[in-house]
Amino acid sequence: MAYETILVEQRDAVTLVTLNRPQALNALNSQVLRDLGEVFAAYDADPSQRCLVLTGSEKAFAAGADIKEMVEKDSADFFLEDFFSGWQSKVVATRKPWIAAVAGFALGGGCELAMMADFILAADTAKFGQPEIKLGVAPGMGGSQRLTRAVGKAKAMEMCLTGRMMGAEEAESAGLVARIVPAADLLEDALKTAATIAGMPPMAAMVNKEMVNLAFETGLAQGILTERRLFQILTATEDKKEGMEAFVAKRPGVWKGR
Ligand code: HXC
Repeated sequence: MAYETILVEQRDAVTLVTLNRPQALNALNSQVLRDLGEVFAAYDADPSQRCLVLTGSEKAFAAGADIKEMVEKDSADFFLEDFFSGWQSKVVATRKPWIAAVAGFALGGGCELAMMADFILAADTAKFGQPEIKLGVAPGMGGSQRLTRAVGKAKAMEMCLTGRMMGAEEAESAGLVARIVPAADLLEDALKTAATIAGMPPMAAMVNKEMVNLAFETGLAQGILTERRLFQILTATEDKKEGMEAFVAKRPGVWKGR
């Protein structure tokens, strides 16, 4: 299916989604967000697809929500449209793994979108920031919450209050990104990483994702108990039997996805 503002390509079991509004540094207007919601829902529902990479351009992953679209809206418009809600719940509800591959600017909504990913791979050119304060607003797609959980209060507060950008190295040492890759290698590395994940037993991939995310939603004892129960459920899968038998027989596993 063709979309107006994003490119979607399937490479074996990996879906590659590229934000494609170069004239606006991939600013996230309503159309992009609607398209993203649809693509993520379709990815989650397609059993042939096992990992997704979301990327932008060399210059910008996304420079934020589209300011030119927001400039004329008033508070009632934002409230009545419940701006930023519908598409976002589809992206966040994705049960299968996905990676944000970020080069250049990831600002405002762009940073927030990247932080919805299971992890971020950053080019050495990546710059993250929540500059909404300069526009008289504040993050509106989870930035104040996810950034604080990722990098802690001191850095999150400084970034939100000053609007300053954080470069790739600082982002890596602060825990915002999983790894830094030379810009020229970003896409190849992200696709290779995605292919590795796509080669894992799919139910185990979904459960591992769920388990790590659980750490942000529960207390430690409840999280550990739920982890144990999910582990026990996975042991009933055919892929568990295959994975362990393949290890013992010194051969690669062949997954059924159940
Ligand atoms: C709409 C944008 C845009 C944006 C850039 N553009 N960011 N259009 N919304 N968020 C457009 C510019 O207007 C310009 O279009 C073109 O992209 C190129 O941008 P330049 O500014 O000329 O590029 P450069 O000088 O390299 O500066 C890059 C930049 C700057 C530092 C990233 O563009 C910038 O500061 N952008 C805004 C970043 C931001 O504030 N993001 C947060 C948005 S609010 P023309 O047509 O002039 O060539 C948000 C959450 C809101 O995300 C939630 C609360 C409700």
